[in-house]
Amino acid sequence: MKTSVWNIKEAVDNHSLLKEAATLLQKNEVVAFPTETVYGLGANAKSDEALKKIFTAKGRPSDNPLIIHIASIQQANEIVEEIPEMAQVLMDAFWPGPLTLVLRKKAGLSDVATAGLDTVAIRMPDHPIALSLIREANLPIAAPSANLSGKPSPTTAQHVEKDLAGRISGIVDGGETGVGVESTVVDCTEAVPVILRPGGVTKEELQRIIGEVKEDTALHNKEAAPKSPGMKYTHYAPEAPFVLVEGSPMFIQSLMDEKKAAGKKVGVLTTEENKEFYQADCIIPCGQRSKLSTVASGLYDALRAFDECNVDVIFGEVFPREGIGEAIMNRMMKAAGHTVVKEK
Ligand code: TXA
Ligand code: MG
Repeated sequence: MKTSVWNIKEAVDNHSLLKEAATLLQKNEVVAFPTETVYGLGANAKSDEALKKIFTAKGRPSDNPLIIHIASIQQANEIVEEIPEMAQVLMDAFWPGPLTLVLRKKAGLSDVATAGLDTVAIRMPDHPIALSLIREANLPIAAPSANLSGKPSPTTAQHVEKDLAGRISGIVDGGETGVGVESTVVDCTEAVPVILRPGGVTKEELQRIIGEVKEDTALHNKEAAPKSPGMKYTHYAPEAPFVLVEGSPMFIQSLMDEKKAAGKKVGVLTTEENKEFYQADCIIPCGQRSKLSTVASGLYDALRAFDECNVDVIFGEVFPREGIGEAIMNRMMKAAGHTVVKEK
């Protein structure tokens, strides 16, 4: 399959290139597009034929439901049974933005999109290209992250091309995404909202607006079954084994020295502040420790960069689990298969 790439740096409604992409969506083809979090792989949420193409292109397990992207509240009403008060407050505060709400789905909505659940995940992305594309297609657009299943999510059109060229109809290139980690998924079907996946909107921000917020117990207990099907899969992993280290740069260097002595090539995932400290075969900073939002935006590009440098093992620094740090650590723990080495 030929994958078209449309270069759109500035999105305006009726943009002719966006029209091409929107027409393909209407023809039930799949097209990747930028959002403020990561690139999504979009398809017509009303067509099982289109939705199945997403699962095939990504190699995604069919029991992992999709997020439906909308550009207006009216579109939300066509998808969900009702919008409870709590969800309305969250929409008013955070939409458009990196917050996905899980609500009771309307009868008739595709079981392919929701993996047979009686709930549906929806969000209004805060990106001019995503919003224009949804409006132009005039359809709700189901979109998971536009990576091959198991790989880090794409934050540039080039990441999407690397994973999916030849497997999808097109890619709208709108440059780098901003937030860098995916949206926060919040279950709004019970009395108190529950965070199923930490993301671009932090727990602290949610609490400021809504008061009490719970977290799915599976987020901090790897034995528990997560309520969000996608959270059970290994994810975000570079090709070489990735080990998180809770300790000083000096301790991390000592671990790398042991590996080097055994003839291994080593990599380290670090920050602008610490990068000069290390001696390794591949040293990749993913932002500034003093500004965690830069770590979030640089994380997936950094994880992908290790695949270009052929190391045998990668060590990674940890971050405080505060604000966006919670989402960063959630993704890093998954990339590391939950292996953390602690300095005594
Ligand atoms: O930022 C984002 O959310 C990006 C951009 C493209 O919007 N999308 C994204 O989609 O990360 P995806 O498919 O990679 O992750 C969706 C997550 C999965 O963990 C999935 O299991 C969960 O949302 N999810 C979807 N529908 C659900 C539902 N009805 N109940 C619980 N979890 C659900
Ligand atoms: Mg994903």
